[in-house]
Amino acid sequence: MARISIRNLLLLRMTLNRSFIAFISINLIILANCSCNNLSEKEIVYRQSFESGKALYNERCANCHKQNGEGLGALYPPVRNSDYLNAHWKQLPCIIYRGLKGPMNVNGVNFDWEMPGNKTMDEIQMSALLTYMQDRWRGLNTVVSYEEARKDINECEDSGVRNQKSGVRR
Ligand code: HEC
Repeated sequence: MARISIRNLLLLRMTLNRSFIAFISINLIILANCSCNNLSEKEIVYRQSFESGKALYNERCANCHKQNGEGLGALYPPVRNSDYLNAHWKQLPCIIYRGLKGPMNVNGVNFDWEMPGNKTMDEIQMSALLTYMQDRWRGLNTVVSYEEARKDINECEDSGVRNQKSGVRR
């Protein structure tokens, strides 16, 4: 091996195309960062989605609902053990996307404030946020795909604001 010359190395490099090198380096970075040598590809994808979802939740939701999801007294309702959310998981993408307004009751407490929407959220962010929230507060550990998230967003865009309210607050 001591005999590998610079010329040979250059030749070797030239035979590897750039995208292959990029592919290898990305995988090395992932392996180095998550000590996930024993994880399947599926688990790695799951962890990545969970971690980005966690960052998004902490950035956009935790101010009000708190990092552990317990909410803040009579101002902000909980998302952890919330009877409302537990009955309306299907509407969560629309709640995130469009926000909420008007009186509602969560775990016996009345709330009548306003939650801002996140209309610039794309399907990649939405899928990560849903994956994270479902894991923490619904006990699911499946990735919400980009396709599902895109469909959810499109459906929220299609229904009118009033419809959303009556749709959400059954
Ligand atoms: C500025 C504060 C604020 C932020 C930020 C916020 N919310 Fe809310 N959220 C509220 C309020 C206030 C309500 C109750 C709205 C009402 O009274 O109609 C609410 C209601 C909800 C509900 C339904 C009630 C329940 O707790 O089960 C869910 C679910 C929810 N928010 C999730 C989220 C998620 C996910 C994010 C981040 C993308 C988020 N919220 C960001 C203030 C906030």
